[in-house]
Amino acid sequence: MSKEIENYWNATAQKYQKKSGISLASAHYGPYAPQEKDLKLLGNVRNKKILEIGCGGGQCSIAFARQGAKCTAIDLSEEQLKFAKELSKENKVEIDFRQGDFQDLKAFKSSSFDIVFSAYALQYSFDLRQVFSQVYRILKKRGLFVFSFDHPFYLIIKKKTKKIKESYFQTGRMESKSSWEDKNKNKIRFVYYKNKLSDIYNALADEKFMVEKILEPLDLKGEKAWTKGEWSKFYPKELVKLVGPTIIFKARKNK
Ligand SMILES: C[S@@+](CC[C@H](N)C(=O)[O-])C[C@H]1O[C@@H](n2cnc3c(N)ncnc32)[C@H](O)[C@@H]1O
Repeated sequence: MSKEIENYWNATAQKYQKKSGISLASAHYGPYAPQEKDLKLLGNVRNKKILEIGCGGGQCSIAFARQGAKCTAIDLSEEQLKFAKELSKENKVEIDFRQGDFQDLKAFKSSSFDIVFSAYALQYSFDLRQVFSQVYRILKKRGLFVFSFDHPFYLIIKKKTKKIKESYFQTGRMESKSSWEDKNKNKIRFVYYKNKLSDIYNALADEKFMVEKILEPLDLKGEKAWTKGEWSKFYPKELVKLVGPTIIFKARKNK
């Protein structure tokens, strides 16, 4: 099920990294969201064991490692990881990068991480409950799970017209209308999964996570990449001001 997503990210990794220009100054949470240096959701990460799931180009883990965290980072896409490994070498930080699927975290021991972090990757999960239950298992007692992704309200709006384009109640797999072939003749489409806010909250609560914060921030002055080129079509400023594109959850393992 994750193969189509892996193929998409392998085919687009280079372009994504070029157009996003994600900074290493602090971990980011996504379009028009403040960075971790402002939100301070994780606290001091020095000597903390952090697992980043869906690390992409590794910028967030690099930012954590520069602050003294011990980072492991997984991603499905070999091409994203290639970029991440190169970037961490350039920045002289050691990160344990692994190619893997966050739907399956069996490789990690129970109660072994202080923090599990994810920026803009869990919208590619076909089963958030499966991910959450494994994250709960691998976190230490009182461990933190902090993640961001597309705000479910933002996803239902047509960016050009600012009109509702589909039902909020339509959840599950969504795919782009257009497709193309990669160099291995794989048909590539942009695929993601839609959840309602209540689906996300209830999946965390059912795992016994304590949800400490839900943030719906709007930072119009932050990263400039979102205001340029192709991104500006997906994140038109006039729409962003009406419905923020990013939602962030901070949850804690209580027992
Ligand atoms: C939008 S990018 C975000 C990457 C990075 N967190 C960032 O902020 O730039 C989404 C990433 O999630 C990864 N991904 C998608 N599904 C995944 C899965 N099931 N397991 C691991 N990584 C996955 C993709 O390969 C891609 O690198």
